[in-house]
Parts: sequence; C-alpha cells; structure tokens
Amino acid sequence: MFKLTFLGHQGWSVQTDDYHLLIDPIITPYFRNALYARSWIFPPRAINLERLAGVNGVFLTHDHEDHFHVESLNYLPRDIYMYLSGNMSGAAERILREMGFQNVKRLFALEPIAFGSQMEMTLYPPPASPTEHWVLQPFIRGRNLRESLYNPVDCTVSPELLSMLRKNKVRRLGVVALANNTQHVLSPYHPTRYMPEMRTASSNFFPAGVLNCHFGMGELPLMDCLAIVGRGFLDEANPFGVYKEQAQDQLAGILQRYSYGECDIHGAQPGDVFAMHANRMQLMPEKSDLVVRSPEAEERLAQAEKQDFDFNPLAYEYEPMTGQSTLSPAEIQRLEEHLNKFALKITCHRMGMELINTNVSKDGKPFHEARLILILKNGDSDVYYEFWPSFTEFRRIDELPVHVLDLPDHYPHGYECWASDLLGLFESDLSAYQIMLFRNRVWSPRHGMHGNYNFITVLNDLFAPECAPDITYNLYRKAYERCRIPGAV
Ligand SMILES: [Fe+2]
Repeated sequence: MFKLTFLGHQGWSVQTDDYHLLIDPIITPYFRNALYARSWIFPPRAINLERLAGVNGVFLTHDHEDHFHVESLNYLPRDIYMYLSGNMSGAAERILREMGFQNVKRLFALEPIAFGSQMEMTLYPPPASPTEHWVLQPFIRGRNLRESLYNPVDCTVSPELLSMLRKNKVRRLGVVALANNTQHVLSPYHPTRYMPEMRTASSNFFPAGVLNCHFGMGELPLMDCLAIVGRGFLDEANPFGVYKEQAQDQLAGILQRYSYGECDIHGAQPGDVFAMHANRMQLMPEKSDLVVRSPEAEERLAQAEKQDFDFNPLAYEYEPMTGQSTLSPAEIQRLEEHLNKFALKITCHRMGMELINTNVSKDGKPFHEARLILILKNGDSDVYYEFWPSFTEFRRIDELPVHVLDLPDHYPHGYECWASDLLGLFESDLSAYQIMLFRNRVWSPRHGMHGNYNFITVLNDLFAPECAPDITYNLYRKAYERCRIPGAV
C-alpha cells in the first residue's frame, strides 16, 4: 500500500503497510503560534484526533506557523518520531523536547531515510528564495518511483531533485504538490488592493504566476497527479476577509485540458486520497476519515464571506493587533530598551549598511546622516524615533521637523505601526506577520539604492526564527503554555 491523504492547507499523510508519516500537520482548524488572531484553514476542516494514534512519525519542513504549529503538535503522542528539517530553528527543536517528544531528530538534505520497509524520504534544498530558503522539500517514494510524493512546499522545484531524476532517467512520478505560495498569489496583500489603477497589469499576475510555475514544473518528468494545495485561509487579523483561491479550480481545469490526459490536475480538497490504481496514482473516490468537518470553522468562514471587502485604502485606519492603544511610560521604556538592542541588528542588516553608505556625498565628504524614521501610534499622539546607523541607536524626537516624504535624502526609509504592537513583537506576543501584513505603513521615497526593500523586509529578516532565537522560543513557549490551560486557546 502507498496511500497519500491531503490533510488541508499543506499537510499530508503518507501511509504504507508498516508506517504512517505526517508532513506539516495542522491538526486544529486554524493555525497561529502567537497570542492574537488565528488563521482558519480554507477549505475548512478538522483532523480526526482518534486516527492519530497510529502515526509513527512527523516531518516538519520549516518554522513558518502554517507548517509548524505548536497547538497542533500538542495533540500528537509523545513517543512518535519528530523529524525536523535541518534548517529549522533551535527554538523549534527546544520546544518539542520540552513538550515531551522523546524522539526529536534533524534530517538533512540528500540523506535518504527509510520509514518502515516500504517508504523512503529524501530531502531536497529549494532554489533561492528570500523568505523560504530554510525549507527542505520531501521527496517520498514507495516501492517504486510511481508510488511517490514530491512536495516542494512553499518553493519551486529543487535543481538537485531535477538532477537526481535526470541521472536516474526517471520518466514519470506519482503525485506532485503545488503550493499557492509558489505562485506568489497574495491576493489580500496585493498592490491592486492599494492601487486600483494597477488592476489591469496586476490582475494578470495570478494566472501568469500559476502558468509560470506550472511550466517551471515542466522541468519535471511527467506525473500522474498534480495537487494544487495551500489554497487559502481566513486570517482574523485580515481586514480584507477571506483569502481563498477559487480561481485555482478554474485554472486546474484549463491546465488539465493542456495536459492531454497525461496528468490529472486537482485543486486538492481536504480528505482527498491518492493511491495506486490501474498502474497509476489516482484520486480515489472515497474521502479519508482522517479529515472531518469543522462546524466552527465553517461558521467563521460563512460570517467572513458576508464582509464587504471594498474599502478606501487611503482612509483605511488599522487598530492595534494587541487591542492596547496606549502604552504606559514603563512600557515605553521597555520598548526603547528593545529598540536599542534591535539597533545593532539593523546596523548589520543591509538597511543599516546602505544608510551609512548614503552618508557619503559625491566628493567623498559626509553631508548628512541618513536615517530611518519610526512613527509609533500611541494613544492620541504619535511617538517618533530616528534610527541613526552610525550611532547604532534609536533617538526619540518630539515632533517631525517636516513631512518626512519631503526629505528623501534624510529619511530614505519610514515605518509606522502601533507602539503596543511593536512591543508585543519584541515580547513574543505577536508574530511579525501579524503586523507586517495588515497593521503598518511603510515607505521608501528614495528610489534606487533604497528602492528594493523597506522596513517590512527588515522585520521579516530580523524576526525570522534563526535570527531571533530567544524571541521565537518565547513565542513557542507561550503557545505551549496556552495549550496546557483549558479554554485558553
Ligand atoms: Fe513558508
């Protein structure tokens, strides 16, 4: 037997006669390691907890919380094997051990591991990616290469996998998963939402992304099934409502026509089962009982569907994620202590280096100190800081001298968010995405050197688990503590 079950979002179950492996299982109907606002998986579903008893091992591809979710992992028996991608954070490994998992192991790229007598997994590194570089992609095979699952996770196809397939003259694979992250389909965060005049150019972005990715997958040999996964979610913090890609079903249909029957292309539904039938991996008629309905998630999605998504982006005002609109003087002091530790990291980041480089005029003499302006919303009045790269510190200023956009040389970067949210991020109550995606404003008025990234990139880089191990560990630890208090999650 070689049976694949799609668990929803990007989770998979792989079963043979003597082994049951889960990949990136989100067991609850939602995910989020931070205290505030969850994301509910679309299409909605829950996992049948009774069916988890037979699981032998779990493979976790990376630390992103739609793949590594502490509350979900807490439902698993502690004697099973927890395999972490070798690139995952020390924080992830530490929390799993503290949760009582007795067998926590790291797996590294290109080192095959056998699971029972009929399954073997090899991990492949993805192509370069700014946000998914730490993923290791599982390639799992059964007794032959037609019994296989290749899951590129949030990335495109691994060059190392391609060279292995070519070297071995592999002509056909079983099931390949295609995740929506790969297609850069970020509808709710998309510029069209902010710049309606760009709608024409940008609305081509989605199908173009899918097609590029699909034809990028043309590098692979033929496959029996292409399963389009990771098809959306409802983020409670998302003012735009539900992010879901219904269009993927349509596109799957179009791509299906052009595959001339060589490949079955599915917008995968939770509970879909793929197994060998008539000499090829096929979508089976019966759904898996590993996946069950979640009335709670269905209700939330139904409510969210009623929201009106059209809004005026210029008038859009965001509330603090933490719900706290004013920090006390003691909290402001704590925030400043965090900021000044953070300043050193920014100086070592390319933003700090480029700000320093900007300080040299054409004839080689310093002409001003370029800095980042930080506008923190707090109660009725904003709090302002300037990040001075050559002093490696944030300095508070009482008011903005002029509108910062009028001084692009002095302020190549600007950033606005709630003071309480930034404190929550430093103190492991929020994940960076909860601020970055919906609850901030950012600008880089100076193009050219400073045009390719902004302070959101800095937050994404410097709060990534491998760059902020203590903050990440505390986030996981708090998530685990909440699991142990009935009714707290
Ligand atoms: Fe990811």
